[in-house]
Amino acid sequence: MPRKKDVNRRDFLQKSAMAGAALAIPSSQGYAKTKAKKTLSSPKDVIRMGFIGTGLRGQGHVSLALNRSDVEVVAICDIDPRMIERTQNILTRKKAKIKPTIYDQGPHDYLRMLEEEELDAVIIATPWRWHTEMAVAAMKAGVYTGVEVCGAFSLDECWELVRTHEETGTHLFFLENVCYRRDVMAVLNMVRQGLFGEMVHLECGYQHDLRGVKFNDGETAYNSGVKFGDEAFSEARWRTWHSVHRNGDLYPTHGIGPVAHYTNLNRGNRLTHLTSMSSKSRGLHDYIVNHEKGGPNHPNADVEFSLGDKVTTMLRTAKGETIVMHHDTNLPRPYSLGFRVQGTKGLWMDVNSSLHIEGTSPSHQWEAAASYLEKYDHPLWKRYESEASGAGHGGMDYFLLHAFVESVKAAQPAPIDVYDAATWMAITPMSEESIRLGSQPVVFPDFTRGRWMHRQPVFALDDAF
Ligand SMILES: NC(=O)c1ccc[n+]([C@@H]2O[C@H](COP(=O)([O-])OP(=O)(O)OC[C@H]3O[C@@H](n4cnc5c(N)ncnc54)[C@H](O)[C@@H]3O)[C@@H](O)[C@H]2O)c1
Repeated sequence: MPRKKDVNRRDFLQKSAMAGAALAIPSSQGYAKTKAKKTLSSPKDVIRMGFIGTGLRGQGHVSLALNRSDVEVVAICDIDPRMIERTQNILTRKKAKIKPTIYDQGPHDYLRMLEEEELDAVIIATPWRWHTEMAVAAMKAGVYTGVEVCGAFSLDECWELVRTHEETGTHLFFLENVCYRRDVMAVLNMVRQGLFGEMVHLECGYQHDLRGVKFNDGETAYNSGVKFGDEAFSEARWRTWHSVHRNGDLYPTHGIGPVAHYTNLNRGNRLTHLTSMSSKSRGLHDYIVNHEKGGPNHPNADVEFSLGDKVTTMLRTAKGETIVMHHDTNLPRPYSLGFRVQGTKGLWMDVNSSLHIEGTSPSHQWEAAASYLEKYDHPLWKRYESEASGAGHGGMDYFLLHAFVESVKAAQPAPIDVYDAATWMAITPMSEESIRLGSQPVVFPDFTRGRWMHRQPVFALDDAF
């Protein structure tokens, strides 16, 4: 039998459709696993998925995947036995028919998973430092790659994603769930129908008090401590280090994702340059010294944080729109992504859930956005509302996984593709550089190499996925 990586994906799926025999192999956990090649009515009715990183986010994806009859969860990979166990509990609770192979033999065991498993798709939900390395390996293995959100470390890394996609032809789906938020999609509908006129100025960001997430002691006391690093749990094991060592917009994609669709970035438009400025850093230190488990003598009270409490980035597009992005994760505040979508005829803002449309709204006054959001509810939401009920982040995680699975089944390019991933992730190292240079402008690379001029919008054009 040829090695897995030598098998053309289409051939493989066609052959698997004909193969009814099941092959029992021992898994790394010692139990026997059925590595069945299903007899499918059509080669891509059901896809075999693997998961790299089954922490809190990965578990959410596994759980949603298990709700679907068109997905088999065949492999999971993580280095933390607590996370593997939690994921196995989900599999048990959801009465999963297949027992996935566990890959838990260290930080590079995902390579063995990609080599040994007959995967159609993989979802990567590991700490940011691993995303590109893992996505590149998955694309090289010919496995449709879904990668969780993050900012990049360098522009080289963004180019590596693009080059690997172009060299291998393997698709990458950047898993930006906020693009599927209900109000965000309704506003996309309004933008496309011209309610706000021509786009002029947009705002967005990541404004989320993460102090509790950055410091937590353990799974039973989630969000309740001042520890981070190896002795902590989930994101506090790794995310806080970025706030110690880096100063920039560390998490740009929840904001720029929706804005990219409002302004057709990489599809008739592109980002040209940005400039970034950061405030002083106080919030994380204050959290430690004022916390009941911390105090001025706590060892972490001496940690110096590089990340400014408020990082503000201004971007410009080739079509002349300005975009202001807010990164605000270390101060007390309610959650808000701070969207403002403004054109020649009016604007919507999410923080007051209001809009104003000239000629329709009372002169110079805000109107509640609710009735507009209902009227312009996106066809996808109308169609899948009941399926999405209960899914993470107000239902949007259902739409994200749905779009991913349907793209894999159809072997289609991702609606949020590698060029979007590279452009959006690039904001992080570019904002770091701008701040380092005293807020000097930094020029965006054109990851599409000119194709942005002719690429057409594809995201959520109808109710398909
Ligand atoms: N889109 C969203 O709404 C959303 C929400 C939360 C997190 N995220 C993103 O998801 C990703 C994961 O975040 P999380 O909250 O699940 O963090 P987490 O720490 O809970 O999970 C990460 C997991 O990756 C595992 N891991 C680390 N190195 C590994 C390796 N080399 N091989 C295999 N597994 C490895 C860890 O053990 C951990 O279980 C991040 O990119 C985060 O930004 C997105």
